[in-house]
Amino acid sequence: MAIRNVVQVGDETLRKVSFPVEEFDEKLHTLLDDMKDTVKREEGAGLAAPQVGVLRRAVVVDVEEGFFEFVNPRILSRKGEQRGWEGCLSVRGKRGVVSRPMKVKIAYQDRYGKEQVLQAKGFFARAICHELDHLDGVLYIDKAEFVEAE
Ligand code: CO
Repeated sequence: MAIRNVVQVGDETLRKVSFPVEEFDEKLHTLLDDMKDTVKREEGAGLAAPQVGVLRRAVVVDVEEGFFEFVNPRILSRKGEQRGWEGCLSVRGKRGVVSRPMKVKIAYQDRYGKEQVLQAKGFFARAICHELDHLDGVLYIDKAEFVEAE
């Protein structure tokens, strides 16, 4: 387990589309363990693999509901809308107001490759949408109504 360096906006890694995870091996588990250490150290709500320089479709989310790992996640459905503040460990010192679905249902694989389905609402849903955007090279600042210094 280790803390990994979080790449910052301007780094082209953040703008690339990540590749599916195909091997549910020790390398993936180490990546997820390190992402957990890193998001807890940085006190973030989530972290996506491209933020630590790995172009694979894996994210972690750390919210009131618990700590979650989503591999190859995809959104099955969205309901409602919420406006609220977001920040990003790759856009330090800033925050912005972003509209997101109020509820999402996602399918994903766990670290062993088992298919799972999960429903989330409120801030949990917001964090999932934010992290999934990272897998397609999208940052919250692309969608924000406005961004300000924190
Ligand atoms: Co982010």
